Amino acid sequence: MNVIINDKICTSSVGQTLGKSARLNHSHVGYICGGNGVCQACYVTVQDGADCLAPLTDVEKAFLSPRQIAAGGRMACQATITKEGTVKVLSRPEEVRRILFSNPLALFSYGAEMGHDTLQQIVPGISNLIGRIVKGEMGSKDALGDFMESVSGAFGLVVETLPNYLPFKEQIMGLIGNLPVQLPFQLPFSTPQTPESVIERVKIMAPAPKA
Ligand code: FES
Repeated sequence: MNVIINDKICTSSVGQTLGKSARLNHSHVGYICGGNGVCQACYVTVQDGADCLAPLTDVEKAFLSPRQIAAGGRMACQATITKEGTVKVLSRPEEVRRILFSNPLALFSYGAEMGHDTLQQIVPGISNLIGRIVKGEMGSKDALGDFMESVSGAFGLVVETLPNYLPFKEQIMGLIGNLPVQLPFQLPFSTPQTPESVIERVKIMAPAPKA
């Protein structure tokens, strides 16, 4: 079974969701809510092979606008591969990256469309979510664990990759690294933080006592 995510061929099998396939193949598809159909970070555009996927789930029908559905939008954590073939998808971050490098001005209309889609689906999305909570589908320990794991993974990914796209990245990361707070992750380019080093920074940054 071929799943091509952002032009990268991934090993997948029937019965997997596109999200799981992306994770197993380390592809850049979001997973912030742990595949619980809440965050839409896993939004992908299906470019080919839509017929190899199960029909839209109720969650997707609630969260995706008619425009997104017509454009081939799916939530990767919800879209299950149902038959052999080739499925080709583009993740949202990759879509944005391509627009940025080919036609940056088009990002304004892209952002406006995304905002409009989100607004349009707020009521059905929240209703769907409340329905699932009421049915006890969202409160499990596993769901919370998945969510926390994904959030920390997403933080890690951002911290690891964002500096590569920043001008003056060393200076910016140096500034962040000198904040007088203990970060829940290790910054690239920084030395490990210890309680003593954090206390030292607080001392340095505290205002001098008035004479
Ligand atoms: S991973 Fe959050 S909606 Fe799919």
